[in-house]
Amino acid sequence: METRQVIKAVVPVAGLGTRLLPATKAQPKEMLPVGRKPVVQYVVEEMQAAGVKQILFITGRKKTVIEDHFDTDPELVRILSSGGGYAMLEELAYTETDTRFYYTRQSVPNGLADAIGHTKEFVDNDPFLVALGDSIIRNHEDGSLAEKMIRAHLENGAACTIAVEEVNPDEVYRYGVVKPSDGADLAGSFAVSDLVEKPKPENAPSNLAIAARYVFSPVIFDAISRTLPDRNGEMQLTDSIRLLIQLGYPVQAIRLTGSERRYDIGNFESYFKAFMDFALSDEKYGYLVRQYLKRKVREF
Ligand code: UTP
Repeated sequence: METRQVIKAVVPVAGLGTRLLPATKAQPKEMLPVGRKPVVQYVVEEMQAAGVKQILFITGRKKTVIEDHFDTDPELVRILSSGGGYAMLEELAYTETDTRFYYTRQSVPNGLADAIGHTKEFVDNDPFLVALGDSIIRNHEDGSLAEKMIRAHLENGAACTIAVEEVNPDEVYRYGVVKPSDGADLAGSFAVSDLVEKPKPENAPSNLAIAARYVFSPVIFDAISRTLPDRNGEMQLTDSIRLLIQLGYPVQAIRLTGSERRYDIGNFESYFKAFMDFALSDEKYGYLVRQYLKRKVREF
């Protein structure tokens, strides 16, 4: 069993976000706010809470604003310190961190497998986390999904550990779906015998959808290098993981608990729902938003 800590995470943010046009014409979808923070800040904070010390963003054109967001801004700090904006300084505390940020560029967004393929040198020989930059995992209790995944990954000597979320059986066609191995106990982490991208409900092997978080061992790079583009020319990560299974490597999954929820902001319906949930439960403004919503609902 490997005992090395997982201290590196990869956050792909190079996609075009076409489903959110025109909002994403000139800005990354990962920078859209959900409540008071951009989506990608939740992702980074989740990684930091799991003990990650080095984060590599896979960026592309129009994504440089993400670098600015995580960089310190001495001029803004000076203005806030000298004027009446002292209280706002607290909002910049996230930039004072010992996390090291790295950036690499996927010039053409040729799919998630291609994106992860760009991280080989950064990852070196260690297992690493992948957290999609457009998805938030919210947890209402203590403990982090990423930490559980890392532990399970190391204990099982897995090549890949996938977070999965139960979804409505009618909606499996929107997701990558895993097939648990025969007799798998779904309570803890369990072995996966296949994955299907966007299945029809009648053909779906389960209703457990891949939920934007993965732990990989470096063998994934061999699988990526053998992955063929799909008919849209994109290299799908699910195809690389299927290859791992076909080559006999152990692939595991772990379910989100009832207190964990994934918010994927990739389309307007899910983005609006995510924003509403976070605004409604906001510590400072939630009460006012809830009052407003109650009034609005009466008008419908
Ligand atoms: P999506 O699969 O939602 O794709 O990406 P997309 O291209 O951004 O969105 P649409 O389909 O055009 O609306 C999931 C995550 O993976 C990143 C995205 O930036 C997003 O955070 N991604 C996707 C890459 O980094 N590279 C890619 O080639 C594709």
